Amino acid sequence: MQKSSHYKTVILGAGAAGMMCAIHAGPDTLVLDHAKAPGEKIRISGGGRCNFTNMYAGPENFLGGNPHFHKSALARYTQWDFIDMVARHGIAYHEKTLGQLFCDDSAKQIIAMLLDEMARAGATLWLKTTITEVAKTESGFTLRIESEGKRKTVTCDALVLATGGKSIPKMGATGLAYDLARQFGMAVTDTRAGLVPLTFSDKRFADISGVSLPVRATAGGKSFEEALLFTHRGLSGPSILQISSYWREGEEISLNLLPASDPFTFLRQERQKAGRKQLSSALSPLLPGRLIDHLSADLGLKARLADQSDSALRTLCDQLTNWRLLPSGSEGYRTAEVTLGGVDTDGLSSKTMESKTVPGLYVIGEAADVTGWLGGFNFQWAWSSGHAAGTAI
Ligand code: FDA
Repeated sequence: MQKSSHYKTVILGAGAAGMMCAIHAGPDTLVLDHAKAPGEKIRISGGGRCNFTNMYAGPENFLGGNPHFHKSALARYTQWDFIDMVARHGIAYHEKTLGQLFCDDSAKQIIAMLLDEMARAGATLWLKTTITEVAKTESGFTLRIESEGKRKTVTCDALVLATGGKSIPKMGATGLAYDLARQFGMAVTDTRAGLVPLTFSDKRFADISGVSLPVRATAGGKSFEEALLFTHRGLSGPSILQISSYWREGEEISLNLLPASDPFTFLRQERQKAGRKQLSSALSPLLPGRLIDHLSADLGLKARLADQSDSALRTLCDQLTNWRLLPSGSEGYRTAEVTLGGVDTDGLSSKTMESKTVPGLYVIGEAADVTGWLGGFNFQWAWSSGHAAGTAI
């Protein structure tokens, strides 16, 4: 006979959202995860230093089917609440850029902090646990699991889906939350990779792989002014990761390679001062040399400045400030930082994250259709939504 144990709350997933929820859900809480360690994405995030929030986080930094859904949770547990907890635990941190806060030492400190708070709250954590079946009962849920090589049955009043999105399957990401939401009759919006490098099947940037420069990148009507990195397979860097969440397959992107200059005025002045110069050398103070070489044939950069009419200079400047490219795809879930789409937020209470149709079922973190920009926003959503569900249970 299998042993059955009852908990008030069972949380599936010991990631950022699941751990935060456990901290607030009360002592009678069990957190289950199939991984060997909790918070694996926290551990690898931010190059091992975890960009744990953003000082300027606000509702405008998030995407989702319902542009208002995330407002309530973000307002009730803000970046300052999380920063307070980090400070209370004596974790040193710094702002890297654009309000992005990173640990001075290691992302492992954030995991240790969350585990410490979970222990204080009296939550129980079972790792290396496979969830084989979840069923609704009259008063709650029954879960069949395999833990420590043993089959077990666990029952609970409240069940929280916090198993994240599909990004980085190598690290154990699965679509369990989506499958369970569908099993319970909830809608799940289409999912796709977000914050992900874009690719070109002809590998046209292989010769300038490693070249980086500040740009303004635009896709789907949204622009970001951050660094761009050319890669062997296409384009990466913060500006590209940001627009990847707004880009749809088959659509062009636009790059302004000179967002901080007025190239037309500059080139006209250069023409007056040194008309014998080639366009390529005139542009060298503005753009990396390898990029100029790459563009040279297409844009005719070997021509002399003196031979360029104003209209020719205008055309060149348009090409440099509105370089239109059609990516063939993205690197996909293999390297994506997040999954766009997920459990439809129309089916969830924005105050508590509880399902409107299945009482006692909660969906938090990346599993829900809320996605943040690059820069600490996704963790902030995990903290805020985890807190919303945890305090409501
Ligand atoms: P998360 O993915 O953290 O946790 C889900 C948990 O569920 C995992 O522990 C997993 O093992 C478990 N699980 C999954 N399927 C299961 C199953 N079938 N059975 C049992 N358990 C299961 N964001 C940010 O704000 N700042 C940053 O610096 C970064 N950096 C970053 C780097 C990289 C490389 C990636 C991939 C992602 C980021 N992110 C980020 C995004 C951030 O990591 C992400 O949005 C949050 O971790 C989401 O938190 P969740 O708790 O929702 O899911």
